[in-house]
Amino acid sequence: MITLCHHHDIEEGRAKGFEVSGKYVFAVKKDDRIYVYYNYCPHLGTPLEWLEDQFMDPDGTFIQCATHGALFVVEDGQCISGPCRGKSLKTIPHENGNGFIMVNENDIALLGRI
Ligand code: FES
Repeated sequence: MITLCHHHDIEEGRAKGFEVSGKYVFAVKKDDRIYVYYNYCPHLGTPLEWLEDQFMDPDGTFIQCATHGALFVVEDGQCISGPCRGKSLKTIPHENGNGFIMVNENDIALLGRI
């Protein structure tokens, strides 16, 4: 398993990006729950953030792609507005070990083959 960060390192309604084995992922917190996604917009395959760790819309409700403004539901990665409406971000399974957010290296290795 690969540790991304501690649960408390991410504020409510915010996200944090990580490079893991050459792949880019991010973790987002909503209602004190963590969700981890591949940092790859299903529209054109670009990274989502406009600045480091800036993955959210202004009020922290949705994940927002900086390139064309697509909005994604935090809980399931579904695009509900924008050019990739109906598509989804790729979810990465994670585990919580003593408060640390951990992902499986095998799941990371498969990214980029979607
Ligand atoms: S690249 Fe993300 S909305 Fe176009």
